Amino acid sequence: MTQAARQETDAAAAPEFPIPAGVHAEKVISVRHYTDFLFSFRITRPQSFRFRSGEFVMIGLPNAAKPVFRAYSIASPSWDEELEFFSIKVPDGPLTQHLQKIKPGDTVLMRQKSTGTLVLDALTPGKRLWMISTGTGIAPFASLMRDPETYEKFDEVILTHTCREVAELTYGEELARNLVEDPLIGELVQGRFFHYATATREPYARTGRITALIESGKLFEDLGMPPFDPAIDRVMICGSMDMIRDVKALVEKAGLKEGSNAAPAEFVVERAFVD
Ligand code: A2P
Repeated sequence: MTQAARQETDAAAAPEFPIPAGVHAEKVISVRHYTDFLFSFRITRPQSFRFRSGEFVMIGLPNAAKPVFRAYSIASPSWDEELEFFSIKVPDGPLTQHLQKIKPGDTVLMRQKSTGTLVLDALTPGKRLWMISTGTGIAPFASLMRDPETYEKFDEVILTHTCREVAELTYGEELARNLVEDPLIGELVQGRFFHYATATREPYARTGRITALIESGKLFEDLGMPPFDPAIDRVMICGSMDMIRDVKALVEKAGLKEGSNAAPAEFVVERAFVD
C-alpha cells in the first residue's frame, strides 16, 4: 500500500483526526500481553524507515488533533521487516492507557527520525558486550541481540535483565530462547550469547539486584568471566534512573569511560523512557 493510500484508509477510520504531516501511520500486526503492566506489539515498517539497532523513535496514536508522542526503543533488529516495541501499561498514562488497548489492524503513529546512544557506533572496539537492563529497559537490547553486526564486533554478548517479578522476565526469556533457535543467526550466537535474568521480589533461579551481583562478584562467577576490564569490556545500560546511576558508578569504578555517538568510549546509558 502506498503512503497516500494508507493515510486515506486511516483517515476513513478516524475522520475527525487526520494523520499529522511528517508522521508515519502504521498498522498493528500483533499484540502480546505479559502481565497487567507489560505488553509487546509489532507494527508494519515504512519502506523508507531506516534505523540503527538500539535506537528509539517517537510513538503515538491517532486519537487527538495533537496526539501525545512518547519515546519507544525499537525492540526489533534493523533487518526486520516489522517493528517491535515492549511497553509498560500505566492506568492513567497519557499514551499507554490507550496504547495498551490496541488490536491487530489498528493504526499507530510514528515520527520519522530515530535516535539514541545505545548503538554499537557509540562504543570503541572491545571483546565482550554487556547489555544491562531492568524492566522495559530490555527493549533496545532485544534489537541489538538479534543483529548480526553485534556479533561481528564482539566475541561475547551478555544480556542481563532484572525485574521485580518472574512473569516480567518472560519477554526476555523467550527472546533468548528464540535467538538460539533462529535459522538466520542461531549458529552465529551459539556459545557467544549469554542471558542472565534475575528477579528481586520473588523466588527465581537467580535473585538480586544487578548492582549487588556486580559488587559481590557473583555475576562474573556465575558466568565464569573475569570482572569488568576497560581493555576488554564494553557496557550498555538501560532501565530506571536509579539503576542507571548505580550501575554507572560501578562501571566507572572499574575504569570504563562514558561514550556517545560523537565521542565513542567504553560504556553508554539510556533510561527506559515511558513512565
Ligand atoms: P527492587 O525490587 O529491589 O527495587 P522498577 O520496577 O522499580 O523500575 O525496578 C525494576 C528492577 O530494577 C527491580 O528488580 C528493582 O529491584 C531493580 N532496581 C531498582 N532500582 C535499582 C537500583 N538503583 N539499582 C539496581 N537495581 C535496581
